[in-house]
Amino acid sequence: MIYSPTTMLHGSVEMPMHGLGVFQTADGEEVRNAVKWAIEDGYRLVDTATIYRNETGVGRAIADSGVHREEIFVTTKLWNSDQGYEATLRALEASLERLGMDYVDLYLVHWPVDEMTADTWRAMEHIRSQGVARAIGVSNFGPHHLDKLMAGANVAPSVNQVELHPNLQQRDIRRANEAVGCHTQAWSPLKQGQVLTDTTIRDIAGDHGVTPAQVVIRWQLQMGVSTIPKSVNPDRIHENADVFGFSLSTDDMTAMEALDDGDRIGPDPDNRDF
Ligand SMILES: NC(=O)c1ccc[n+]([C@@H]2O[C@H](COP(=O)([O-])OP(=O)(O)OC[C@H]3O[C@@H](n4cnc5c(N)ncnc54)[C@H](OP(=O)(O)O)[C@@H]3O)[C@@H](O)[C@H]2O)c1
Repeated sequence: MIYSPTTMLHGSVEMPMHGLGVFQTADGEEVRNAVKWAIEDGYRLVDTATIYRNETGVGRAIADSGVHREEIFVTTKLWNSDQGYEATLRALEASLERLGMDYVDLYLVHWPVDEMTADTWRAMEHIRSQGVARAIGVSNFGPHHLDKLMAGANVAPSVNQVELHPNLQQRDIRRANEAVGCHTQAWSPLKQGQVLTDTTIRDIAGDHGVTPAQVVIRWQLQMGVSTIPKSVNPDRIHENADVFGFSLSTDDMTAMEALDDGDRIGPDPDNRDF
């Protein structure tokens, strides 16, 4: 068992710094196995979303795990077409039904939809006040989206989950998040595997006797960014969690910082077609 350290989100909600992502993981056996193996390995955070269409399998695997619901941090996300006050409340209810749970630990607005932000966030604040989500947050919000949200907000987002890996280090977003007490979480932390052949990362991995994926995950954690690598393979699920027995030096961290070339694997929140 390898347990992740935690961070304290505002509102005194404790969140593991490391968890399992389940994007592009089929509902049914595939997601149930991934979550099962992860929990057996000590993972205590699972990141799903309505649009991943696997909340049912995630909920089922957690229920079958033998670990108490309260010990597992469950994140799900509000899809774009469900934004707006009433629709947001209904969407979370439907997610809870699929998950077979009566609360989630973190509910995220999946993408900014500017004209809906104020109404959606009002619903998110209501959800938090009712305890149906212990913490609320956003995803894919740039500094200007955050400014707009904060202009009408009573409660700042606890988390902003954004694409973040060695090629896209999101310094401006990290600064903007920090300014409002919002924690930064990395999605596609491995750039879906594309950074794992980078020679700098491979050299650092060689120096420490670890794998390139472990270097990237360790780098995110040492920056104070939580991370949710996805895998459906039991060996890689284990490998991705086994990152607490070594640390990167200042020189390693500096070398990693130099890999930022702004290249994305996912959609640009300011220029997307969905
Ligand atoms: N908020 C958002 O808009 C958003 C967008 C995208 C993703 N996310 C979240 O972030 C999570 C992670 O992002 P992601 O799934 O896009 O990509 P990722 O975690 O960066 O990479 C996953 C890919 O890398 C492979 N992989 C995993 N561990 C590996 C290892 N140790 N060595 C070699 N290959 C490895 C996986 O293959 P195998 O499965 O075969 O091991 C998979 O193809 C998602 O699952 C989701 O929960 C959020």
